[in-house]
Amino acid sequence: MNRTSIFIILIFVSFATSNPTPLKRQDQLNGFTQCKGSFANSITLLSYTPNPVVTGQNVTSHLAGTATEIIKQGTTIVYTAYFKDEPTKEAFQHKQDFCEVYVKQSGSECPVKKGDYSFTASWLVEKHPDEPKNLVVEYYFNISVFDSDGKTLSCINGPTKISYS
Ligand SMILES: *[C@@H]1O[C@H](CO)[C@@H](O)[C@H](O)[C@H]1NC(C)=O
Ligand SMILES: *[C@@H]1O[C@H](CO)[C@@H](O)[C@H](O)[C@H]1NC(C)=O
Repeated sequence: MNRTSIFIILIFVSFATSNPTPLKRQDQLNGFTQCKGSFANSITLLSYTPNPVVTGQNVTSHLAGTATEIIKQGTTIVYTAYFKDEPTKEAFQHKQDFCEVYVKQSGSECPVKKGDYSFTASWLVEKHPDEPKNLVVEYYFNISVFDSDGKTLSCINGPTKISYS
């Protein structure tokens, strides 16, 4: 083998190894992964700002994926936070009207037809009088979307930090 072909092979190898597709997918979910099981509406992108989330401030969240089921009126999104060291102990839960918060703020309306979706929403993260002060806490979150009959349409799990000021 001559020098040129070795050089070309090296370029190819470094290109192939610098393109880690599975890792990139994972990054798009910001550390979240799909829950075990199969769900009609996949979530392939989750990002939020600010990160950590700050109580008393707005958070803006971007959610995207592919829906094989129509997103109808009455769909809810539930964020359940668990303590990191005690993953079975629920810390708090927050429930939103998916159509009102995500779909409407993205300039659309329910029902949302099947196919790829991408929604961005902002809301105020309420400050509670008994919350800690000057502390950043990492929780383990389960984010699930339910239809009006309570069937799980989407489910992802992952860590999220919350900053208490
Ligand atoms: C926070 O979000 C709400 C709901 O989307 C919006 O009406 C409000 O203008 C936002 N406030 C700031 C400071 O961005
Ligand atoms: C996620 O949270 C929902 C709502 O509390 C619950 O029904 C579901 O079992 C949880 N799933 C996982 C994988 O933790």
